[in-house]
Amino acid sequence: MSDGDAELEARLAAQEEFEPPAGFVEQANVSDPDIYGQFEENWPNCWRAAAELLDWYEEYEQVLDDSNPPFYKWFTDGKLNVSDNCLDRHLDERGDEAAIEWVGEPVDEDNVTYTYEELHREVNEFAAALLDMGVGEDDVVTMYMPMIPQLPIAMLACARIGAPHSVVFAGFSADALATRMNSADSEYLVTCDGYYRRGDPLDHLAKANEGLDGVEHDVEGVVVAERLMDGDGFGHDLADNQHAYADLVADQAGAEVDPVERDAEDMLFLMYTSGTTGKPKGVKHTTAGYLAWAAWTSQAVLDIKPEDTYFCSADIGWITGHSYIVYGPLALGTTTMMYEGTPDYPERDRLWEIVEEYEATQLYTAPTAIRAFMKWGAEFPERHDLSSLRLLGTVGEPINPRAWKWYYQHIGDEECPVVDTWWQTETGGMMITGLPGVKKMKPGSAGPPLPGLDVRIVDTKGEEVKAGRAGYLTVQKPWPGMLRTLYKNDERFIQEYWAEYSDTDSSDPDDWIYFPEDGAKIDDEGYITVLGRVDDVLNVSGHRLGTMEIESAIVGVDGVAEAAVVGGDHEIKGEAVYAYVILEDGYEGDEEMRGRIVEGVEDAIGPIARPEQVIFTPELPKTRSGKIMRRLLEQIANEEELGDTTTLRNPEIVEDIQQQVQSD
Ligand code: WT7
Repeated sequence: MSDGDAELEARLAAQEEFEPPAGFVEQANVSDPDIYGQFEENWPNCWRAAAELLDWYEEYEQVLDDSNPPFYKWFTDGKLNVSDNCLDRHLDERGDEAAIEWVGEPVDEDNVTYTYEELHREVNEFAAALLDMGVGEDDVVTMYMPMIPQLPIAMLACARIGAPHSVVFAGFSADALATRMNSADSEYLVTCDGYYRRGDPLDHLAKANEGLDGVEHDVEGVVVAERLMDGDGFGHDLADNQHAYADLVADQAGAEVDPVERDAEDMLFLMYTSGTTGKPKGVKHTTAGYLAWAAWTSQAVLDIKPEDTYFCSADIGWITGHSYIVYGPLALGTTTMMYEGTPDYPERDRLWEIVEEYEATQLYTAPTAIRAFMKWGAEFPERHDLSSLRLLGTVGEPINPRAWKWYYQHIGDEECPVVDTWWQTETGGMMITGLPGVKKMKPGSAGPPLPGLDVRIVDTKGEEVKAGRAGYLTVQKPWPGMLRTLYKNDERFIQEYWAEYSDTDSSDPDDWIYFPEDGAKIDDEGYITVLGRVDDVLNVSGHRLGTMEIESAIVGVDGVAEAAVVGGDHEIKGEAVYAYVILEDGYEGDEEMRGRIVEGVEDAIGPIARPEQVIFTPELPKTRSGKIMRRLLEQIANEEELGDTTTLRNPEIVEDIQQQVQSD
């Protein structure tokens, strides 16, 4: 490090606030600070601004119908189609412009550009193929695909014919796929033969087929896209109900499918996410409110303009990819990037190479990635010209000020605002983050809530806490992008998100308060620092994993009597899975057992849930009432000073466990 660099680092380290760069503000989509006051005064009609970003077949009657909380309806009786909004309406002006720039992992392979015209054509052809296969309006189509263009094509084709999709992250296991297809009664699957990870072809179809074996109802049709290049295939034969994607599309060459008129409140998609219990929750998002939210936040926060080349490095298998690779950017008619691989293959500068080559204008990534970049060192971004970047974003977990500043300095060259965006699968899109053309930034804090949102930090009784004190995050008014319910489970929807702070007997919307299950604090300027989940959900590399899901996978392993899973601190992942396991008599806590436990978790969920450590113990620390003391297990995992153990029934076990963790 040169002296100049050291000086710069020292200055940045001491700085707690950053004004939005003037060059950015000048051209920002939103730069008028009055927007906050105007939205508040004009609520809920302020959200006409989001609806105006869309094309409607029929105007909506009412902005918000809150007559039956918490089952809110937005833009009621409006009619529209999402695929029409993301494709058709851009054709006249932007037909020849790139809609998707796809970059495969292998460096020697040709990348693919889809213009709006080309994307529109293929979406129509695939929509025709789906109709031919018998997919009807409101049939749930599952997609189990990695980052290949056929995934957004399939999503948009479904949207065109009014079939909701349910995308299952390709890294999830066969069991996870089966559970989700069963839960959604989904009779159709779109998948692929394989894909590339760190240079190797992966056999994805084998996993998909194994998942299909676990589906309890008839599966009407399966589409298999061919991703692998010649010679990398695994020699699968397609079953009778399985069709090659390329054949289907070729058979429908030139077909046109009129987008169906969908009601504003019709389901657009389901996305399964982890909760406190072992069963994933099917979060339901609708057509108008969701798309309006994705589009409005893309414009106001990510500052997307049609001429941009916008790059979000998330996976479409998660909500970030749905809202901010596919729907938001395409609704605005911009160019959205898709990268198949990991940031460190073949080298640790791969992302920066892509940014330079495509002259990306925004980068939206996760703190876990930024921590890795930081660890690898500034030399990798320094090899490339990143001056095309205008805005940086992060999402998924809290970002510490050091990582924030590193990102701001080494990727943004102190000229790009950094938006730290707090939101969830359930919120559909961003909720808490400063508007980059208006608000100053405070590293470590996500910022104020977006205009038109009523976010408050409260105590267990629901009373607002003072600035600086930790409390629970709540959202006190509905918003267009919110989930509408959990699929076929209104009761669990109320239980999970509202029961905590709402009067569930009331029909007054003011009595209904949304609880995201995060802890947070607010400062005297209204900036919110999110502290993390307060339920039994871990955040591993920005991915949400339920401890119960992992525990039930471990208990499913032969010889395991009981398991408790907690999160331990991890330099790159944020949190890592620590599994405390009690074996049945006659079983040995050896390497073989450890291997079987890891395998059990990978089979039930996927490699992302793989335990960092498996700790065998004859007992778990329990209170006198028999509750496992998770706080203590977390402290042990983090090798922290232990809190009060006097309420334990079996305090003697603690030292035993501690020794094991430290010796591993
Ligand atoms: C949970 C939601 C939103 C898409 C990716 C994750 C945590 C998310 C932030 C942030 C602090 C954050 C919260 C939230 N989270 N963004 N900027 N700062 N925490 O979606 O899988 O539904 O997880 O991620 O704990 O509840 P998800």
